[in-house]
Amino acid sequence: MEITAPDPGLIVPYEGVDVSDPLLYQHCQHAMWRTMRDKAPVSRHRMPSGDGFWGFSRYAECERIVKDHRVFGSEEGTILASVGVGDSAGGQTITLMDPPKHGDIRRPTMKALSHSVVRRRAPGIRRRVRELVEPCLEGGVHDFAKLMRRLPMVVIGDLMGIPDRYWDTIAYYTTASIAPDDPEYACGATTRETLRRAHHELFTCFTEIIDAKRAEPGEDLITALLTLETDGAPLEDFRVALNCYSFLLGANSTTAHVASHTLLALAQRPHLWDAALADPRSTELLIEEGARWTSPTNHLVRRVREDTEFAGVTLAKGDWVCAWVASANRDESVFADPYSFDPGRSPNPHLSFGAGPHYCIGAPSSRMALGALFQEIGTALAGAEPAGEPSHLHSNWINGLTSMPMTFHPRAERSSR
Ligand code: HEM
Repeated sequence: MEITAPDPGLIVPYEGVDVSDPLLYQHCQHAMWRTMRDKAPVSRHRMPSGDGFWGFSRYAECERIVKDHRVFGSEEGTILASVGVGDSAGGQTITLMDPPKHGDIRRPTMKALSHSVVRRRAPGIRRRVRELVEPCLEGGVHDFAKLMRRLPMVVIGDLMGIPDRYWDTIAYYTTASIAPDDPEYACGATTRETLRRAHHELFTCFTEIIDAKRAEPGEDLITALLTLETDGAPLEDFRVALNCYSFLLGANSTTAHVASHTLLALAQRPHLWDAALADPRSTELLIEEGARWTSPTNHLVRRVREDTEFAGVTLAKGDWVCAWVASANRDESVFADPYSFDPGRSPNPHLSFGAGPHYCIGAPSSRMALGALFQEIGTALAGAEPAGEPSHLHSNWINGLTSMPMTFHPRAERSSR
């Protein structure tokens, strides 16, 4: 989705609009979300299937929905595609479980991705980040979004214990599985075929990796999945594989897009470049603003677990609710001047990593790697500018970029002009 500030006063119709249509998100939806926050912070929508759901566009309600697992459950699905039909992996993976059971998977895997583990692994991840971005640092025109496809695997590949010969395949097919109709990722004659192929390729990789890990355990997340216990027993291999899918989907659907949208925002505002990239503290703030600005997950969905009064409406057990996280991240009552990209914004309580029990488990590793990426960029480059139109991922869930040609200017080049 292209990110622009809506014209002041512009009111966009949302009633009767199919807000699940991925084509809608090829264009900026911030005007629609602002209209909803102003006119109908709680709104009723219908999927093409006829299944209905409640939409919430203000920060306070979105935060409560993702935090309050007693009322808003994750077990039956967390994206719009699940509304009315659920998710076949419901109750089996970290993302699709509710506390207390969710803790059986969350606690041991969190250890494998903790701040201290990330700090210990930082030199290796930094080296790989540098290798990845090296072509841009030397200047010239490069498709930054395409280069960044590998970034999530650089962040998480070693931490999960996945050999790098699998990284490109996994990065490609996880994106195909969330955007099967995107021309870059459609690899079958129909949506179904693409999904079938993507899942087949991914689960073939996971099976091989799990077999190898069983034979030779390591200090990594897949070994943690293989050794943890839930209900007094280890996970069956198919559940280990399903959880691998959850982790890799979490990484691949978000990290690269924060990198690309943040770079684009900076390149469009060259006056911010030097200050935003001045030192590690400024890049830390930049990453937070990049995450808010991008809001890579447009929405998070939950299913109501008990009848409840909420935000002036009565929700019945079984109702579906959608928290428009991208809208919450532009809520004027929380963020001053929300449509301005402010790399020094602090505090910045965005919901881009979620909140509550499902708060992003990959946040420490992705913050570290994104920080390393922008430190490399700031050290080597005096600026960058768009060298063509970016292409946007075909998805109602992920605000992604599939292509973004940029011209990169090394510092030496600019100072010698
Ligand atoms: C900038 C990068 C990232 C962003 C913006 C992001 C965003 C999110 C969000 C919004 C959630 C909450 C989902 C919900 O409440 O239903 C989440 C959870 C999760 N993320 Fe991330 N993510 C990022 C990177 C990663 C990485 C690198 C990994 C790889 C380990 C990852 C794995 C996960 C997992 C497994 C969960 C579910 C945690 C749970 O259910 O307890 N994410 N992420």
